[in-house]
Amino acid sequence: MALISIDHVSRIFGDSNRKTGIVALDDVSIDVGRGEFICLLGPSGCGKSTLLNLIAGFDEPSQGTVRVGGQVIRRPGADRGVVFQQPTLMPWLPVWENVAFYLKMQGIGKAIRREKAQRFIEMVGLQGFENHFPSELSGGMNQRVGIARALLMNPEVILMDEPFGALDEQTKMDMHGELIRIWRESQSTIVFVTHGIDESLALGTHVAVMSARPGRIRELIPIDLDRPRDPTSTAFNDYKRHILSLLRPEPVKDWA
Ligand SMILES: Nc1ncnc2c1ncn2[C@@H]1O[C@H](COP(=O)(O)OP(=O)(O)OP(=O)(O)O)[C@@H](O)[C@H]1O
Ligand SMILES: [Mg+2]
Repeated sequence: MALISIDHVSRIFGDSNRKTGIVALDDVSIDVGRGEFICLLGPSGCGKSTLLNLIAGFDEPSQGTVRVGGQVIRRPGADRGVVFQQPTLMPWLPVWENVAFYLKMQGIGKAIRREKAQRFIEMVGLQGFENHFPSELSGGMNQRVGIARALLMNPEVILMDEPFGALDEQTKMDMHGELIRIWRESQSTIVFVTHGIDESLALGTHVAVMSARPGRIRELIPIDLDRPRDPTSTAFNDYKRHILSLLRPEPVKDWA
């Protein structure tokens, strides 16, 4: 059985001023198996964040159902860790306290929080920066704090919305390597939003290509490439060509 099951989901945002609705998602169905790494790929405004927010439980579908582990999703839960585009850290707390914030909410004492945080700080390669504040770190390091914070909750599912969008190419490639290592180590299931074709092919076990608004899934492509993936290989570029052909708008037939 699929871990995440999205069944005929539509999301229409009402617009009382214009008396119309924006169809952000139109009859989207997709299943994600346990341990898969699925990339949601599509142009700006196609509904990627909308779909991720539905899985996170920040929002509810207008039609259809979203299930995780068989349960219909209506609100956020500790089974789903979210990593945002901006890491949304608490600037007044040092790295380790940001990572362990979930434990503080649960009333767990400082010594245990500190100890538990360490494992995830090391997993994302931030040892030595435990007592630094977010303002003293680079963008990529802050993003890793956000990932460590999500991992500490030990979620079954990690939801990531363009987490590396603001990073330079080199840092992004390093983060891809780290993320694949973490994904394997934590044996989690990842849903990763991106508009980068290369990024989706560097990471995903599957790429779900979405069409421009109203958002639909054009194709769910299983990616059969060895890791680490070589973006210059013929096979990689065959996938890329296929995805490009899906993303290109339909040719306008009759100009005359
Ligand atoms: N809360 C909202 N209220 C009204 N319309 C919304 C809301 N959230 C999203 N939309 C609309 O839904 C559509 C899809 O938005 P969404 O944020 O999901 O796109 P996206 O694929 O994540 O784009 P991007 O790559 O730019 O982040 C857009 O047309 C947007 O205007
Ligand atoms: Mg978005």
